[in-house]
Amino acid sequence: MYGDVNFDQINLLEAPPTGEPDRQYYFIAKCRQWVRDFEREQGRRPRACVVNFGCQMNARDAEKLSGILHSAGYEITEDENADFVIYNTCTVRDNANQKVYGRLGVLNGFKRQNPLMKVALCGCMTQEAQTVAKLKESYPFVDLIFGTHNLYRFAELLCEMYGSGGRVVDIWEGTDRIVEDLPVERKYPFKSGINIMFGCDNFCSYCIVPYVRGRERSREPREILREIEKLAGQGVVEVMLLGQNVNSYGKNLENGISFAELLREVEKIEGIKRIRFMTSHPKDLSDELIQVMKESQKICRHLHLPLQSGSDRILKAMNRRYTKEQYLALTEKIRREIPDMAITTDIIVGFPGETPEDVQETIDVIRKVQYDNAFTFIYSKRTGTAAASMEPVPEKVVRQGFDEVLKCVQDTARMRIARYQGMTMEALVEEVNEGQNSSEALRELGAGEGQVLLTGRLSNNTIVHFPGSREQVGTFVNVYLKECRGFYYLGVTV
Ligand code: SAH
Ligand code: SF4
Ligand code: F3S
Repeated sequence: MYGDVNFDQINLLEAPPTGEPDRQYYFIAKCRQWVRDFEREQGRRPRACVVNFGCQMNARDAEKLSGILHSAGYEITEDENADFVIYNTCTVRDNANQKVYGRLGVLNGFKRQNPLMKVALCGCMTQEAQTVAKLKESYPFVDLIFGTHNLYRFAELLCEMYGSGGRVVDIWEGTDRIVEDLPVERKYPFKSGINIMFGCDNFCSYCIVPYVRGRERSREPREILREIEKLAGQGVVEVMLLGQNVNSYGKNLENGISFAELLREVEKIEGIKRIRFMTSHPKDLSDELIQVMKESQKICRHLHLPLQSGSDRILKAMNRRYTKEQYLALTEKIRREIPDMAITTDIIVGFPGETPEDVQETIDVIRKVQYDNAFTFIYSKRTGTAAASMEPVPEKVVRQGFDEVLKCVQDTARMRIARYQGMTMEALVEEVNEGQNSSEALRELGAGEGQVLLTGRLSNNTIVHFPGSREQVGTFVNVYLKECRGFYYLGVTV
């Protein structure tokens, strides 16, 4: 198991093992050799930078990439002017792609000044054939391209890239494999994401994820629990269980357990104080899950429940497999059973065929549910999806609908969040806030000499800033919510 591996004891004169993850340990050891040579020649360690563009699942993958680079001996930096830069890309909307292309131009500039520099691209974008073709043709300075299915082979691909001197491209169509026990370099020592499943089988008609992440595969419950126990042993107090549709967890496993049963097991793990999960599909949210959330001492009072649209006609065209009425009944049931549950959502405006009347149906749901927060997106056509061939809505109409939805979302969220004013709640301190306005906030809150502004997260996912000390990062504190500032709070510890 990783953690017990001594990379320097691996015999590189032997052929690489064929089984995983041993094969990757071998290539990490080989990279370490390359890093030592670099250090001898340059008088410093090579610096590597991992940039993440996507969702929580991509962020978790980025931690795996960092873990492998760190184990190989690289110094990890946030500066993109480094010796090795890898972009872990997202393609859920076109603006995610455009961001990557824009930043690649900047990397090319750095590379011209540093002939040792290597550039790599992985993640969801590289699973699309047209992206790879474009990179091959117009971005010759990208040295390594791989996809989502073979991320676990990163160490091997890195060795191949340094060995070949040329460009390495390795994209798999799909996989049924889950390779465990590779090194991970966590961003936060006290909280962590855990993949409980990969891929998605839902094929919502607008969505590229099933094409770039492959078929739904659940991890074995004992593997998940073992990983969480290990994290708890390392001081992790908050876990977020990750999957595109966590409510269907376990369906493809022999003797599989349900998501609700998995949560019950995670609850028993000593040291874990908070449990979050993402994302729930409304069509699969069971009564059993509501019951488990209700009884739990650890599951956070926050549920992200993407609506996408409030119009039955559009929901059908989106292949979401629930109606407005069913969605409303579900949220009513949740609020009835667990009144303090914060509910957040995702909404798409401008799906093909959407009329202003459909947008009003969405607004009606926002008013009825009263979300604590909602992410509103303009529909983005994704090549290869079912909706790509449907008639687009004129841009002006989309804009109008989007502005109206956004305003409604902001007004209701502000109102919802304001209701916590004057309460004292437990926050997990996540970081020191060193932003521009921090000294002003400290003054306003009457902070003492030497105090810094801390950022904490409440169980319901609301952010609160309050004065404290750096040592409090990673601990739980009770905070009096003094002043609501729109979407976050200013507070003081009690
Ligand atoms: N599996 C999650 C969502 C993953 S993508 C779920 O089903 O809820 C995150 C969000 O991006 C989606 O909820 C959706 O609102 C948005 N999204 C996905 N594809 C999109 C597209 N083509 N255009 C605009 N928004 C999109
Ligand atoms: Fe995309 Fe739908 Fe799967 Fe979510 S459930 S990842 S929106 S296809
Ligand atoms: Fe983006 Fe891939 Fe996540 S497309 S939203 S990074 S699964």
